[in-house]
Amino acid sequence: MRIPVLSTRRLLPAPERLLRRSFTVTGVPEKARGILTQVTDTVDSRAMDRSPRLEVISQCAVGVDNIDLREAARRGITVMNTPDVLTEATADLTWALILAAARRLPEADRLCRSGRDWSWDLELLLGRELSGGVLGIVGLGRIGHAVARRGAGFGMRIVYARRSRRPPSDPAYRRTGLRRLLSISDVVTIHVPSTPATFHLIGRDQIALMKPSAILVNTSRGPILDETALIGALRRGRIWNAGLDVFEREPHVPDALRSNPRVVLTPHIGSATTATREAMAMTAVGNLVAYFAGRPDARRIAAGAGEGRGGRQG
Ligand code: DGY
Repeated sequence: MRIPVLSTRRLLPAPERLLRRSFTVTGVPEKARGILTQVTDTVDSRAMDRSPRLEVISQCAVGVDNIDLREAARRGITVMNTPDVLTEATADLTWALILAAARRLPEADRLCRSGRDWSWDLELLLGRELSGGVLGIVGLGRIGHAVARRGAGFGMRIVYARRSRRPPSDPAYRRTGLRRLLSISDVVTIHVPSTPATFHLIGRDQIALMKPSAILVNTSRGPILDETALIGALRRGRIWNAGLDVFEREPHVPDALRSNPRVVLTPHIGSATTATREAMAMTAVGNLVAYFAGRPDARRIAAGAGEGRGGRQG
């Protein structure tokens, strides 16, 4: 008899076919021995209570902050995710936000569409120069490294803050404390997982350290950045601009951000290329297949990782 697995949403065609070839896809939580989840599907203790036969949760994402990891570990439920395959796409989107924020692309795009008169002018929509500036990376993991590599290509000096003392992939990247990183960077970009320890890691006091000319970008998880503090800082001109792919209470985007013509906003699409999304879903299904076959190649999250709940790992 095939193993019953509950999938919280439809996958793309190829991974959906693989899932259906490999398992009995059930809509009945009580039967499920595995659950395939996506970013916004909460798997907490109540969800686990509804699936008493549950052995494994396979998350179709790298961040797992929708899953109560501690509770899963307590019940002996394995959790797996899809790191690596989305690193480059997320770094690309991070850079899309950096460039759009630095060169005021949303305002420029709106002006062209508005039908209003405009003419070349020395002062029209002046932005920030990136080349020669400092790129501050909060969390130099996989995605942080991929963002750094692109930053070097844009002629930026790379500084990073992270807990691990492991050397970076490039000795030119300079490790520093978070406070110093914030005070010297022209662009600050966040790439740490969302855990209780990183909740509002960047808040009012941290933003106050940033240069008034700086740009703040978040493609990690919303709760790491205190949105109210960011809104206040933008209003007071404490920082120059922001690019956000993630929000504290998705899909809610605060009015003060929506009505700010300068900030760049995208709806959590860091990994949204066809190739990457397909690779993520294939990996998530492959992880389930490997787990139930007893193979060691399933991407398991270490028990208790992320102090209970984890986000997109940099
Ligand atoms: C992740 O994998 O955590 C991303 O946020 C999904 O795009």
